[in-house]
Amino acid sequence: MRNTLIFGAAIGLAVGAYFGLLKNDLPAQTTTVSALELTEIGTRGEEAFNGTCAACHGVNLVGTNNGPPLLHQFYVPGHHGDMSIVLAVKQGSRQHHWRFGDMPAQEHITDAELTSIIAYVREVQRANGFN
Ligand code: HEC
Repeated sequence: MRNTLIFGAAIGLAVGAYFGLLKNDLPAQTTTVSALELTEIGTRGEEAFNGTCAACHGVNLVGTNNGPPLLHQFYVPGHHGDMSIVLAVKQGSRQHHWRFGDMPAQEHITDAELTSIIAYVREVQRANGFN
């Protein structure tokens, strides 16, 4: 199961990097997603993230054709603090760093889900050296 996940992440990363190159003329992502043990809240966050955010930000945050990777220097806590995640989810985000278009507000996400999503995003970022 874990291997399948990692394999899936590698494919996602390759595809994301490919489209990232096509769409953004940015260097391909060189991140590899390491296996990690999530905390309890992080595990809940992963579920919520995969249900909503992964459609654009990718499983394991690697990005997709529809949205940027959150495993990126732009999104480390010192650059995009937790409040910027809250604001992006509640109000959406205008296209500014990339060329994927605007992020629509995700109004169905509850505050509890949002708290767990933030924990999840930070845990995966930390495990991959984005901190
Ligand atoms: C329909 C696609 C889509 C979905 C769904 C989506 N996002 Fe986004 N998100 C984007 C795009 C595109 C951007 C990049 C905007 C830019 O900087 O150009 C973005 C940017 C962000 C940012 C950075 C905001 C900033 O201040 O620059 C955060 C944080 C974020 N998304 C978190 C999330 C979370 C958490 C979820 C799930 C609850 C989510 N997104 C769902 C498309 C999406």
